[in-house]
Amino acid sequence: MRSVLITGGAGFIGSHLGQRLLAAGDRVRVLDNLDAFYDVALKRRNLAELAAAGGDRFEFLEGDIRDADACRRAVAGADTVVHLAALAGVRPSIQDPVRYMDVNVTGTQVLLQQIEARATRFVFGSSSSVYGGNTKVPFAEADPVDRPVSPYAASKKAGEVQCFTWHHLHGNRVTCLRFFTVYGPRQRPEMAIHQFARHITDGTELPFFGDGSSRRDYTYVDDIVQGIEAAMRCERPYAIYNLGGAATTSLAEMVHQLERALGKPAKKKQLPDQPGDVPITFADVSLAEQELGYRCTTPLAEGIQKFCRWYLEQKRAGVVR
Ligand SMILES: NC(=O)c1ccc[n+]([C@@H]2O[C@H](COP(=O)([O-])OP(=O)(O)OC[C@H]3O[C@@H](n4cnc5c(N)ncnc54)[C@H](O)[C@@H]3O)[C@@H](O)[C@H]2O)c1
Repeated sequence: MRSVLITGGAGFIGSHLGQRLLAAGDRVRVLDNLDAFYDVALKRRNLAELAAAGGDRFEFLEGDIRDADACRRAVAGADTVVHLAALAGVRPSIQDPVRYMDVNVTGTQVLLQQIEARATRFVFGSSSSVYGGNTKVPFAEADPVDRPVSPYAASKKAGEVQCFTWHHLHGNRVTCLRFFTVYGPRQRPEMAIHQFARHITDGTELPFFGDGSSRRDYTYVDDIVQGIEAAMRCERPYAIYNLGGAATTSLAEMVHQLERALGKPAKKKQLPDQPGDVPITFADVSLAEQELGYRCTTPLAEGIQKFCRWYLEQKRAGVVR
């Protein structure tokens, strides 16, 4: 039985990972400060589901990754740390860059400093945003990532570098995973698919940035979780992998798929491109396929159907707006 610490485990991706690990018989501890970036009731619900699934194999520590004592307690006895706690989101990071750097960069460093056992593996949740305005597609791990275009992206690139230095000095195995736009049940309410589903369902105006031609590589959360679990077994001393859907979909097509799944047309409100947004993300996942056995198995149409089913159920139950 593994003992896994998931930082940020009350959130979207972390709670899915926790569920998968508990189902596999592992012990799971979550360190999360229940940050108010979005409705904390959603995070408490995620934790309640983890507690129900894990019984005494699950433990929740409410605490901040910038607090060394909280991190020391959280890492004690863990053979693997999956570090997902962060302030996420490109646009809000432009409004509050200092806070993003504080949580994502200082917080990562404080956490790393508290890991004493050389045997403890570390998996870092990085982001496709490190590729910035890269126009060479698909994005491969060896591509230059020196020009991130938002403080959030810069903080994720910094995290990968911090992880390397820590690995170099202490010898622990580290795997950094660049997630490409993750979606599915429990998705953060401010993310496009969730936000757009709300607008379509409520019949309110949907903010449609640019001409709809910007393209994203969307990844269903179960595929990401499978990739994280594979990375927890990775034997390379330090490695970076893309985890994506390996296909791109235009904004216009994504909205169309939501309209189909929800059975209602969207009222689009045309807005200019946003600063910090990139024209395309597209993952080359061949390295993750070869070395981790990663497989992206959920096509967007199927994943959107699953998301919409979850969204409508939660809306009826009054859990999401
Ligand atoms: N969702 C995506 O599409 C996506 C894409 C690329 C990378 N990522 C990265 O994956 C990770 C998880 O993302 P998510 O979408 O599940 O976000 P999320 O916001 O649902 O989860 C992050 C969790 O971290 C917690 N947290 C924030 N600040 C903290 C602090 N100071 N101390 C302790 N906990 C703190 C939050 O309360 C939250 O529960 C993040 O690191 C994010 O940057 C996500």
